[in-house]
Amino acid sequence: MPLFEARALQKRFGAQVVLQDVSLRVDHGELCGIMGPNGAGKTTCFNVLTGRYKPDGGEVLFEGRSIGGRTPREIARLGISRSFQVMNLFDEYSAIDNVVIALPQVRRHGWSMWRDLARQQSAYDEAAELLARVGLAGKERAASRRLSYGERRALEIGVALAARPRLLFLDEPTAGLGVEGTARLFDLIESLKRQLAIVIIEHDMHFLFRLADRISVIHWGQVIAEGTPAALRANPWVQRSSLGRT
Ligand SMILES: Nc1ncnc2c1ncn2[C@@H]1O[C@H](COP(=O)(O)OP(=O)(O)O)[C@@H](O)[C@H]1O
Ligand SMILES: [Mg+2]
Repeated sequence: MPLFEARALQKRFGAQVVLQDVSLRVDHGELCGIMGPNGAGKTTCFNVLTGRYKPDGGEVLFEGRSIGGRTPREIARLGISRSFQVMNLFDEYSAIDNVVIALPQVRRHGWSMWRDLARQQSAYDEAAELLARVGLAGKERAASRRLSYGERRALEIGVALAARPRLLFLDEPTAGLGVEGTARLFDLIESLKRQLAIVIIEHDMHFLFRLADRISVIHWGQVIAEGTPAALRANPWVQRSSLGRT
């Protein structure tokens, strides 16, 4: 049984059909890529898969159970995390506080309680470990707004990992990163590979083709091609779009 499966997803905004027929499958520990032109419906797809938008049709299964109609919070609790194309951090809080707030044992007790709970050393130890895992050791006490753009993106992944997900969605993680930041992010994602299943929307094909086990190409709200990076390089659409020359 695949870890995660979406079948024939449909999503409309008014008269605009954004997802016409999208099916995806993610196996345990697999790293799947999603590519496609701007406006193809990739982010909308993530929004449907993570419960932000209700689909107009289709089915979403996690470990064989339907999760359609669940709220983002309920889906997160099942073990599905995401990062956002636009970053989602508490700027005034330190890097470590951003992670502590996202820990399940802190989150469970509600927003008003977090400072008391977070004083527990164990929460800070765990958050520090997560920060080290995403390459932010030594930055624990820095206000997140003082971090570099690349560090903020890494912190966002640390926050997503705090929920101990079994499936992580990353929406254009290299966006806005320079060469060095992209190389660091590559190493980070590679180090996470196999520890959990990951789905990455990414326009940087060089980046994606070297990381992904399988890639789906979304265009016009449909999966127009799907396969291993090697198979996709031979795909006419990928070649025409010049994305295959990586
Ligand atoms: N909340 C929304 N309301 C109306 N239209 C939307 C909404 N979200 C996305 N869209 C439209 O859906 C289409 C696909 O957008 P998106 O999923 O962001 O594409 P991608 O991530 O592939 O670039 C676009 O035409 C966009 O304007
Ligand atoms: Mg997008």
